[in-house]
Amino acid sequence: MRNILLVLLSAGLAAAEDGLSGWLRYAPLSCGRSSHLSLPQTIVALNTTISSPVYTAGQELQKGLQGIFAKQVKISDQTTKSSSVVVGSLAQYIKATGNSDVPSLEEDGYWLSVKGDSVQIVGQNERGALYGAFEYLSMLAQGNFADVAKVSNPSAPIRWTNEWDNMDGSIERGFAGPSIFFANGVVVDDLTRVAEYARLLASIGINGIIINNVNANATTLSTQNIRGLGRVADAMRPYGVQIGISLNFASPQSFGGLSTFDPLDASVIKFWTDITNQIYQQVPDFAGYLVKANSEGQPGPITYNRTLADGANLFAKAIKPHGGIVMFRAFVYDQLNESDWHADRADAAVNYFKPLDGEFDDNVVVQIKYGPIDFQVREPASPLFANIPKTNTAIELQVTQEYLGQQCHLVYLPPLWKTVLDFDLKVDGQPSLVRDIVSGERFKRPLGGYAGVVNVGTNSTWLGSHLAMSNLYAYGRLAWDPTSDAQAILQDWIRLTFGLNRIVVDTITKMSMDSWPAYENYSGNLGIQTLTDILYTHFGPNPASQDDNGWGQWTRADHNGLGMDRTVSNGTGFAGQYPAEVAAVYESLEITPDNLLLWFHHVPYTYTLHEGKTVIQHFYDAHYSGAETAQTFPTLWEGLKGKIDDQRYEEVLFRLKYQAGHSIVWRDAISEFYFNKSSIPDQANRVGNHPWRVEAESMQLSGYKVTAVNPFETASNFKAVVTSSNTTAGTATAKLNFPSGTYDLAINYYDIIGGRARYEVYLNDKLVGKWTGDNEDKLGHTPSTFLDGHSATRITFGGVKVETGDTLKIVGTPDGTELAPLDYVAVLPSGVID
Ligand code: GCU
Repeated sequence: MRNILLVLLSAGLAAAEDGLSGWLRYAPLSCGRSSHLSLPQTIVALNTTISSPVYTAGQELQKGLQGIFAKQVKISDQTTKSSSVVVGSLAQYIKATGNSDVPSLEEDGYWLSVKGDSVQIVGQNERGALYGAFEYLSMLAQGNFADVAKVSNPSAPIRWTNEWDNMDGSIERGFAGPSIFFANGVVVDDLTRVAEYARLLASIGINGIIINNVNANATTLSTQNIRGLGRVADAMRPYGVQIGISLNFASPQSFGGLSTFDPLDASVIKFWTDITNQIYQQVPDFAGYLVKANSEGQPGPITYNRTLADGANLFAKAIKPHGGIVMFRAFVYDQLNESDWHADRADAAVNYFKPLDGEFDDNVVVQIKYGPIDFQVREPASPLFANIPKTNTAIELQVTQEYLGQQCHLVYLPPLWKTVLDFDLKVDGQPSLVRDIVSGERFKRPLGGYAGVVNVGTNSTWLGSHLAMSNLYAYGRLAWDPTSDAQAILQDWIRLTFGLNRIVVDTITKMSMDSWPAYENYSGNLGIQTLTDILYTHFGPNPASQDDNGWGQWTRADHNGLGMDRTVSNGTGFAGQYPAEVAAVYESLEITPDNLLLWFHHVPYTYTLHEGKTVIQHFYDAHYSGAETAQTFPTLWEGLKGKIDDQRYEEVLFRLKYQAGHSIVWRDAISEFYFNKSSIPDQANRVGNHPWRVEAESMQLSGYKVTAVNPFETASNFKAVVTSSNTTAGTATAKLNFPSGTYDLAINYYDIIGGRARYEVYLNDKLVGKWTGDNEDKLGHTPSTFLDGHSATRITFGGVKVETGDTLKIVGTPDGTELAPLDYVAVLPSGVID
């Protein structure tokens, strides 16, 4: 048990913090009991080479002791008997101390022994020693001064991140500004942020990184860029983070000038061998390649009637002599026709890969997204994990919140990841947890592990949001030990990031643990998928976009019911891809869990769930309940004012208020959409019934005109108003007929990317609030040029005194193509959410 001295409080709250140091702040502990503390007087780092992780560990220990305790400690390479922290690899430790009495360790593992001021940190290798040093510092920073003697080994050898950075500096599904790696087609000159990122990654046990987008540009392979890779590797090496790159399968033709990219062609084999040799000249410890082939328009071996294994093995053979590996993505699927009841994108991975089991070289790892579709709010575990026992596998998780709020919604993801990692696929009737399959343990595979799509950017918060960093921290911790508890990891992160104050820890714990269930509630329920707009930004609601196209993320919603029939007896047969015991559950409508019902079955809206409600009433209730939870986040956060620094307090509060508003956009859009489809009213009479709203289109308009919104359900009453010209302000006026009292004014408007419209709100010609439509500068989610579920935004002005008959006036001044669009004003008595 952690011996946390609760008398310790974080000091230095006044200093603004921009998030750059993440959880590695080494904030001072103001310590009432410092006399009880005995800290090492010397740091003994057993390697003095600057690029070595052991040297880094020494520097880091020095920095940590200085930051946390204001204690200056010298670094030496000579062991001393008294009061020291010794850090090194096992070999270095034995050589320096003659002591070989160290427990046995696995690759990258460490032994940490703390006895008062005598501390030994011994890594199986140098990287392991650095991990041990970070663990010791994490304990100290959390006020944990317990004596420990512990061995920690990683669950799996592959613990990588993937970054979807493009050579021009943009990032696919990145929400925190441009790339830290690339700009204008080349590796950036200043790699300071790259080294800082490696430091964060090392502190959570990440040992590899793919630095460019899976939709890869062949110019990564230019001589100049390969030299650039050398510089990136140099920046990350002191932290034990090895780099790799994504490859474009057609490079031999598109970049190398060959007439073909056929993986069995001798000239193609030579091309990749030469490129690989060039890379290893610059980066001797290059980790490997990541390949997205025959997927979403990317070229691949199938073009030449070769198998995916032929494609993967092409790279595996080129890289094998250097000790590198190939991560080959299982995200291979084709466009399908929805009129075919049996067609199913979810089937694709097993159909493509199962026949190839046993044909992949030993240094190939098939990288499998956690679910069969694409990073949705809830998916069953991909059945591919159970179907290729003779192949190395890794699980692909997404830290960047592509479909899950794009870092503008707080969604703590580990509870979602754990639904898959802890899932028992019961292969051959034997326990087969996904985490034991990807570790290599279940099928006795030599390789396996984790790939997390992170997509950090140059924003000082790394991910665009301070709170989203809990997901990156937890990703590394879970890759190291997937049996760890999601809440315990979260609380370590909170203490390291925001300090030890119990109210701070409890508050952020509550919000975070409530956040994924809330997001699922107000986006897509019962396994129907997230219901974002899959044809545009993947951010706001647009349930209709799932269907009537070839992408295969179908819901098959019609007037009677919804859901994908994936049974063997009557549907796509997908349920039959699971081992027998699991398949039997999913095949049966009666015993499929409610939260995956619509993933596996097509049912009427009136179908009764195990919980007793109908599907449609569950949708309505879940959406109201999820949005209600999101309303609590800003209020909870406001309780932390003065308990954390102002900069992070304000930045987080802004996002939580945005989320509270956008959760209502979600709630209304999804509820209205399915009410419209099913014509079944909400038993609680909430859907389509907004007694506290004043619709903009029913206000008296001058210089404003009424417009339709697409999708219709993303406007209250399906209409909004925009200014009649893009130069002249418009005015919307209404008499308020609510009882006199104090209200919150919640105003829904659309914040599009075409300009920065300005708005002013008056009550009887007295200004009560104003704002600018500049979310594109502040939020970082993929922006929209339209009035829709992405741009719909709710802003609230609290505590406004209103008398019956008062005149509300909104003046909207357009800017560019942003015509100061308005949807409605909700005049909310205390406690009402409408
Ligand atoms: C999703 C995502 C794409 C990405 C793809 C992939 O479809 O929207 O941006 O390229 O996944 O993982 O390859």
